[in-house]
Amino acid sequence: MTTTLPPFSTPLSRRIGLRYPLVAAPMFIISNKEMLVACAEAGILGAMPSLNARTAEQFEDVLRWVRARTDRPFAINVTIGLTSPERLQRDVELCLEYEVPVMITSYGDPTQIVKAAHSRGVIVMHDVINLRHAKKAEAAGVDAIIGVSQGAGGHAGRINPYVLLPFLQDELNVPIVAAGCISGGQQVAAAFALGAQLAYMGTRFIASTECGASDAYKDLVVTSGHADIVYTDAVSGIHANFLKSTIPDATAPTRGPEAAKRWKDIWSAGQGVTQITDVSTIEEIVDKVVAEYHDAVARLTG
Ligand SMILES: Cc1cc2nc3c(=O)[nH]c(=O)nc-3n(C[C@H](O)[C@H](O)[C@H](O)COP(=O)(O)O)c2cc1C
Repeated sequence: MTTTLPPFSTPLSRRIGLRYPLVAAPMFIISNKEMLVACAEAGILGAMPSLNARTAEQFEDVLRWVRARTDRPFAINVTIGLTSPERLQRDVELCLEYEVPVMITSYGDPTQIVKAAHSRGVIVMHDVINLRHAKKAEAAGVDAIIGVSQGAGGHAGRINPYVLLPFLQDELNVPIVAAGCISGGQQVAAAFALGAQLAYMGTRFIASTECGASDAYKDLVVTSGHADIVYTDAVSGIHANFLKSTIPDATAPTRGPEAAKRWKDIWSAGQGVTQITDVSTIEEIVDKVVAEYHDAVARLTG
């Protein structure tokens, strides 16, 4: 770790063992093992969906690779409803076997996973966009709830973070993690002021050197603003935010190889693209965000 900026923490980040209470959120296809290790070295929590490894065998190779390079915490995301039952069971078994410190569950009921994870001391955080799902996950025993607000990359919610975070905090007894449109340290400070215990950042880390996104995707994140983001269910049936220019128009072919190629290149990102001005290493991003956070807090405290 080369960063020399003062650490800051919350009860949840101390429990996980992080230098900074920041998460590089899991992103389908583009999060990779290099990001997990770079985040660990930078003192934050890196996360990757298990399905980013095409097979369970490849997922085991990822865990072995990461385990050989760092003793620090990292997280694996299991997308419950989007994964076949056999693959889900195997991925959870592998997480426990390789003592993955944190599991992030999404798109389904985490009850069984929480039971298995807690029997091995694994922390479970669950991703929600509304109170109904948050209450269910709390009843299942998760250790933290990730509130995904309006404007987030991926399957974003519809509730503004100024409302969602204090609302979840009032209604629940578990720590809240803030997700959606956090790309800089000022926004991290705002998330903590709203009661969050971790800042969960996806879109910002698309524009990292280590991320598996193509250079064209990273460049588009850097050059886009929030007006270039569209919230639609046309791509997967679930509302999510995308870079508008990558969505095929009504005249694009919907069948055949040309269509498959076109739809493959639809890129998700959140409104937080506005604050992203360069592609840099994860270590540089963390340094910048932490410095901005400390500046914001110093301004507030005079
Ligand atoms: C390209 C992309 C892919 C994503 N894939 C997943 C995923 O596989 N599983 C998941 O739980 N969340 C996924 N998300 C959501 C992120 O984990 C996180 O909630 C979100 O990026 C936070 O908002 P932000 O992008 O505004 O920082 C994805 C987000 C993006 C941008």
